[in-house]
Amino acid sequence: MDLQGRSILLAVTGGVAAYKSAELCRLLVKAGAQVQVVLTESASRFVGAATFQALSGKAVFTDLWDARVPNTMAHIELARAADLIVVAPATAHTLARAAQGLADDLLSTLLLAAGKPVLFAPAMNREMWLHPATQRNMATLRADGARICGPASGEQACGEVGEGRLVEPEDLLQDIVAALTASCLEGRTVLVTAGPTFEPIDPVRGLTNRSSGKMGYAVARAAREAGARVLLVSGPTALAAPFGVECIAVESAQQMFDAVMARAAQAQVFIATAAVADWRPAQVLAQKQKKTPDALPPPIALQTNPDILAAVAALPQAPFCVGFAAESENLLQHASAKRLRKGVPLLVGNLGPETFGRDDNRLELFDASGHQSLGAGSKIDLARKLVAHIAQRLPVSDTPLQSPPGA
Ligand code: CTP
Repeated sequence: MDLQGRSILLAVTGGVAAYKSAELCRLLVKAGAQVQVVLTESASRFVGAATFQALSGKAVFTDLWDARVPNTMAHIELARAADLIVVAPATAHTLARAAQGLADDLLSTLLLAAGKPVLFAPAMNREMWLHPATQRNMATLRADGARICGPASGEQACGEVGEGRLVEPEDLLQDIVAALTASCLEGRTVLVTAGPTFEPIDPVRGLTNRSSGKMGYAVARAAREAGARVLLVSGPTALAAPFGVECIAVESAQQMFDAVMARAAQAQVFIATAAVADWRPAQVLAQKQKKTPDALPPPIALQTNPDILAAVAALPQAPFCVGFAAESENLLQHASAKRLRKGVPLLVGNLGPETFGRDDNRLELFDASGHQSLGAGSKIDLARKLVAHIAQRLPVSDTPLQSPPGA
């Protein structure tokens, strides 16, 4: 569980999006967190304390003078117990008060007494969000070290469309996990390829493979949790992009190649998890190929696709390149040979393709010094281990890296 042993103080303020915080509370508890809810007076007009008490399994606090706290210092006690304070939804009023440092109710007082990270998830009407006063307050909070999640764009409760929606609870949960993760890739840009490619034969048919993209999306999510800016170049998958990750959708290997090469110079790390088709039909028919009675199946002439990983690894200022290889036999031998052939310092191997589409995997790392196992586990846990391993191998300077000699 992502938040096992963590204590989250969930502060809910008075906006209609408060109903989504009930779902966030449930997700936090499901992820293993101890959740203490604080409601402002106006939040309790939208969702009652009983809802949050039932979901968190703990009495809710609203009043600075709560008699349940023996020393009458609820603001200190609650702030002390939390690993992270999450204000969701954070109204324009709450943000203004926090930016000013006011301290006249339980939430504002505990934000001042916090001495620990605070994550604000703003939610308000789009005009309120765009108002220079709100933007000024956001700049102040950012400068004070607060983490801001959102707001998202879309339809608003007031009937308008624009920026100001509360980020969806599942996405907020990902950002909360990220806020509590060691930022070993802070300041780095990580480029990831994921999923299968689709090589068209005609407008309705094509060649593809069984890659689900789950491992690559987990790697992108783990890199983002570790503080990196993440660019995810993805072939067609059924997955939602991880929160906070820039996703570039492509279909064919050539499109993936172009998208990666256009961005490789920005990246300090390149992780190629995509199952790229080695070949594509030499000609793509403009119209659907029709069957004719008694005719033989049409032959499909193939041509070779560019090798994206090898091309990035060969760049003069190559990022730290990590390849993936799913082998059906002789993993040790094939993976070691593939690492040298691709010219990359690190290759991640697994015995597939039976792991395609599954949520778990078993990964082995191959580098110039040999082979080590990351063990078996869920794809997200393995992705986090891999990201921590990669971070250790990056030089302290943030200049782009070249693969070490002899890689
Ligand atoms: N890869 C790539 N571009 C290609 C083919 C592969 O970037 N055209 C990357 C994959 O994303 C992966 C690594 O290279 O990180 C190994 O992929 P794999 O398909 O196992 O390698 P191949 O070179 O195609 O070797 P094989 O003969 O085993 O198919």
